[in-house]
Amino acid sequence: MRAVVYKRPFEVAVEDVPDPRIEQPNDVIVRIAASAICGSDLHMYEGRTAAKPGLVFGHENLGTVEDVGSGVVSLKVGDRVVMPFNVACGFCKNCVAGYTGFCLTVNPGFAGGAYGYVAMGPYGGGQAEHLRVPFADFNCLKLPPGQERDADYVLLADIFPTGYHGCELAQVSPGETVAVYGAGPVGLMAAYSALIRGAAKVFVVDKVAERLQKAAEIGAIPINFEDADPASQIKDQLGGEGADKGVDAVGYQAQAHQEQREEPAVVLNSLIDAVRATAMIGVPGLYVPTDPGGVDEQAAQGKLQVGFGRLFEKGLRVGTGQCNVKRYNRQLRDLITAGRAKPSFVVSHELPLDQAPQAYQKFDKRVEGYTKVVLKPAA
Ligand SMILES: NC(=O)c1ccc[n+]([C@@H]2O[C@H](COP(=O)([O-])OP(=O)(O)OC[C@H]3O[C@@H](n4cnc5c(N)ncnc54)[C@H](O)[C@@H]3O)[C@@H](O)[C@H]2O)c1
Ligand SMILES: [Zn+2]
Ligand SMILES: [Zn+2]
Repeated sequence: MRAVVYKRPFEVAVEDVPDPRIEQPNDVIVRIAASAICGSDLHMYEGRTAAKPGLVFGHENLGTVEDVGSGVVSLKVGDRVVMPFNVACGFCKNCVAGYTGFCLTVNPGFAGGAYGYVAMGPYGGGQAEHLRVPFADFNCLKLPPGQERDADYVLLADIFPTGYHGCELAQVSPGETVAVYGAGPVGLMAAYSALIRGAAKVFVVDKVAERLQKAAEIGAIPINFEDADPASQIKDQLGGEGADKGVDAVGYQAQAHQEQREEPAVVLNSLIDAVRATAMIGVPGLYVPTDPGGVDEQAAQGKLQVGFGRLFEKGLRVGTGQCNVKRYNRQLRDLITAGRAKPSFVVSHELPLDQAPQAYQKFDKRVEGYTKVVLKPAA
């Protein structure tokens, strides 16, 4: 089959690779209709990780069941399904508690598995014609039949639940004010989720014009961090008081606010400043214990200069970690089906698989309005 294969930093190629097969009785094979490129893929693409050449990318996958293992009970050939990016078993201590992003079974030595992702287990990615899904009864979420709204439903694999997770970690409630850092797909989904949850005012911080424009289109207040200190801009609009809640949807590759360089802790520190005392901050943005390209020795070990004293003084609470997609994907699916959510407003490009190399390049540079790319292997 054709698949998007990692070659070296800043290069992927579409190549022939072996077809995935049923390996365990509870596997299914899915024919991929849509697989999205994620900001997390860029960490591997940019060579910031230990990803090896040959890895097939793609953890945001939707398609139809094509082959069913003998032990699968709830799925049949032809079912349209979307898979959480987390690969999970459904029976370990963490899965049973709802922490499917930290499954203890699927990736020994590490909590949590994912398709097509470095250090997340031996699972091939879905930016390809077919995908093997283990523990399929647990990991497939059924969708209404047909091909309608693929671009909405595929976002249930990761970014819609992940944005929602940022709000859940921060316990965003009706009437609150929320500061979201990052207007990438995750930040836009966090802002959208905050509005769905009834937030009164949502600020979205970034510098990419097209992305800030999308934030404004859904009713959020765009804040350009190149214009002036973003925390001050937010507090000025709230009568000097900080926001009730905050979400970091940027992660460790954050850019300094008025200079052209990376500053891994800048978003965390700015959020600590931008929220009011006793606020809660959700951090879906990715932080890792090793970053081969770290800006200094400490940052390369994931040790960041976060103002913990100020955080303590303000009595802030912070929630972090991979999204447990399965905790939210069913409810969010039903919001889409009912016409109450249309997350595909973030999708800027739907492209055939062959155009993946150029799409990665442009998405990585955040140019030409490349906000979220959905690859369509069958197109
Ligand atoms: N927790 C999870 O389960 C999970 C799932 C998916 C993605 N992620 C992570 O979420 C983060 C965002 O993902 P994405 O797909 O939206 O990525 P993205 O790279 O497309 O978006 C990040 C955005 O942050 C902006 N940015 C950079 N520095 C900033 C700063 N100082 N202040 C405000 N904005 C700044 C960039 O301009 C960009 O638009 C990544 O770290 C990704 O790995 C986590
Ligand atoms: Zn993703
Ligand atoms: Zn498990």
